[in-house]
Amino acid sequence: MSYLEIACKAAKEAGRMIRSRAGGELAAEEKSSSFDVVTEFDKKAEQLIRASILEAYPDHAFLGEEETYHSSRPLHEVLEAAVDVPFLWIVDPIDGTTNFVHGIPGFTVSIGLACKGELVLGVVYDPSRDELFWAEQGKGAYLNGNPIKVSAAEHAAECVIATGFMPAYRELNIPSLASFGKQFRGIRVLGSAALHMAYVACGRLGAFWQYGLNAWDLAGGVVLVREAGGMVTDIGGGEFGLSVQHIICSNGKVHPAMISCLKQNVQ
Ligand code: IPD
Ligand code: CA
Ligand code: CA
Ligand code: CA
Repeated sequence: MSYLEIACKAAKEAGRMIRSRAGGELAAEEKSSSFDVVTEFDKKAEQLIRASILEAYPDHAFLGEEETYHSSRPLHEVLEAAVDVPFLWIVDPIDGTTNFVHGIPGFTVSIGLACKGELVLGVVYDPSRDELFWAEQGKGAYLNGNPIKVSAAEHAAECVIATGFMPAYRELNIPSLASFGKQFRGIRVLGSAALHMAYVACGRLGAFWQYGLNAWDLAGGVVLVREAGGMVTDIGGGEFGLSVQHIICSNGKVHPAMISCLKQNVQ
C-alpha cells in the first residue's frame, strides 16, 4: 500500500472506533488543566494509527500527541531534528477531544507525513460526517474522492472564517474577534483545527487563524490547504514550518486581510 493508502485506512479505522463512543460514558482525564482533557479513546486511536503505520513502515518515525505528552524529549527538539528524518508521521488521534467528550460533531483524526521536515501528505477524517479529506504534494486535494479547491472569494465580506482558543492565548485572541467581525461575513469556532483546515481546503471556510497550535494539530491540514490552492503561513505572513504555532490558512485572496486584522490586534 502507498503512504496515502495507509494513512487513509488508519484514519478511517480510528475514526470509526471513536465515532461509536462519542458523547458516551467517557472518563475525561485532565492533562494540563480542565480545558485540556484526554480520554482512553485518544490513546487507543493513537495506538491503532501508530501500529498500522509502523507495521507497514517499521523504519519510519512517529510523533503522536498523546505519547509526546509523556515523553521526556522536548517537542521543540523533536521538531528541530525533523529536518534530518526521512519519514516522520505526525498524528493527532482525536483533534477536538472536547467535542468528542461532549458528543458534539466535529472531532477529527489527523495524519501528516513530513519528509526531512517538510509536510508532503495530509489526511483529515471527520467520522461524524464520514468525510475523508486527503492530499499529497503535487497531486491535488480530495474529499471522498472528489477534487476540492479553496473558495474563490476575493473579499473578506464574502467569507466565513474560523478560529480556536488555546487556553494560554484566549486573552490575546478574544479582542481580535472585533476586527475580524467587522470585515468578514461570519466567524465560527468548530472545535477542531484540522477540521477548520479541511474546510478551508474545500471552500466552506475562507480562512482560519489560531494562536498556540502544535505540529499534530496542523500536520494533516497543511498539504490539504496548499494542494487545494490556498496558503498557510505564520500570523505575520511568514513561512510555515513544523515549529510554527500561530497560523493563518486561507484561500490566498483574503490572506492580506487576515494578516492586517491580526496586526491591529497586537498593536
Ligand atoms: C484542540 C483543537 C481545538 C483547538 C485547540 C487544540 P485537541 O486539539 O484543535 O480546535 O482550538 O487549540 O488543542 O486537544 O482536541 O487535539
Ligand atoms: Ca489534546
Ligand atoms: Ca489537536
Ligand atoms: Ca488531540
